[in-house]
Amino acid sequence: MPEGGRVSIACKVNGHAHTLEVHPMARLLDLLRDELHLTGTKEGCGEGECGACSVLLDGELVNSCLVPALHADGADITTIEGIGGSSRLHAVQEAFITAGGAQCGICTPGMVLAAVNLLERNPNPTEEDVRTALAGNLCRCTGYVKIFDSVLRACQRTQAQT
Ligand code: FES
Ligand code: FES
Repeated sequence: MPEGGRVSIACKVNGHAHTLEVHPMARLLDLLRDELHLTGTKEGCGEGECGACSVLLDGELVNSCLVPALHADGADITTIEGIGGSSRLHAVQEAFITAGGAQCGICTPGMVLAAVNLLERNPNPTEEDVRTALAGNLCRCTGYVKIFDSVLRACQRTQAQT
């Protein structure tokens, strides 16, 4: 029996199965950053307004600061670490680098996850589709144009390879 009122949950994160004991009030964001040390997921506002904490929960883009950790029980979660890393970047990540879509980087993991989620649903988005899909993700640095360019560039590159 878990100690201190903690509750045992089982979930899959980036393809790896975990059994964890979480505080009933913990957020999915806390589980990822503090328990699993997946610090690519950022905390910005902590109130569901900025999208910095975006992850995929059973394929749905969610703000992990608003999701109770208990909701992760039985779920399949993807964080930015599951999208790509320094040894193997996703096409969206490469496009963010080449098009200058990242500056301070706080918003970038959430932006990339929102973009990956969009391209999975719609491999040929218009700029309007990109703007709509990323509307929940705020950036204080780039002015957004280079971010939208990055997503469209990733889309073109992916299509050129197929
Ligand atoms: S930290 Fe979750 S939406 Fe801002
Ligand atoms: S790159 Fe700094 S907040 Fe977006």
